[in-house]
Amino acid sequence: MQADKRLIVALDVNDMNKVCEIVEALGEWVAFYKVGMELYYSVGVTVINYLKSMGKEVFLDLKLHDIPNTVAHAAGILTGLGVSMLTLHTGGGPAMMRAAAMAVAEKAAELGIPRPKLIGVTVLTSINENEWTALGHKTPVADQVVHLAKLAQGAGMDGVVASPREAALIRRACGDNLLVVTPGIRPVGANQDDQNRIATPAAALAAGATHLVIGRPITAAPNIAEAARKVIREMAESGLKF
Ligand code: C5P
Repeated sequence: MQADKRLIVALDVNDMNKVCEIVEALGEWVAFYKVGMELYYSVGVTVINYLKSMGKEVFLDLKLHDIPNTVAHAAGILTGLGVSMLTLHTGGGPAMMRAAAMAVAEKAAELGIPRPKLIGVTVLTSINENEWTALGHKTPVADQVVHLAKLAQGAGMDGVVASPREAALIRRACGDNLLVVTPGIRPVGANQDDQNRIATPAAALAAGATHLVIGRPITAAPNIAEAARKVIREMAESGLKF
């Protein structure tokens, strides 16, 4: 058994000691890590350079959302860090997404490095139907998620972030050429924490997920390497290879 590149472990911590502890404990079992706002705003590019020096891939989840010119410049700069995936909010609109896609492609070509995949965030899963209505929307959340996923695909995004439940709808609507990155994963028997719409690794893959983002079930486990191995085994046993 070896690292499964569809598994992305979320480094939801805010200091480098903790990062090193997790990455060293997981060793060769995990090849891909998610760095979010908390960690990036705490330690900056240090964590990206560290992960790359360890031979790891980075999913930089900063959820960019601004005017096209600003997001394009920011995405270009982040491309220069050598990350494999970047997120932005699809709500920034098609022009913003297209500008980001172009900037990322240009920067990667200029530096002669692989182009990071651009992943769109549709509707945050923390938004429930009440909040959705309060924001003035008339269509159901699920319809809007699918609509935004299609818009993102048309504007050059490589994939979207989605709950396991949304993954199936998106996969049906957008076909096979879209990455679907899915958080809210809980292996059989794991603590649910504050996640509501959860799925096992195998169920998320069956729903059409291409990547699983997993935090606490691995990083808060008493034996984190064993927890990761269990997930990798479950992914392998599902027999699903997108
Ligand atoms: O610890 P846990 O496995 O719940 O962590 C999941 C990761 O995915 C966290 O970094 C969390 O912020 C992120 N995430 C999520 N739900 C979303 C989007 C992102 O849990 N809808």
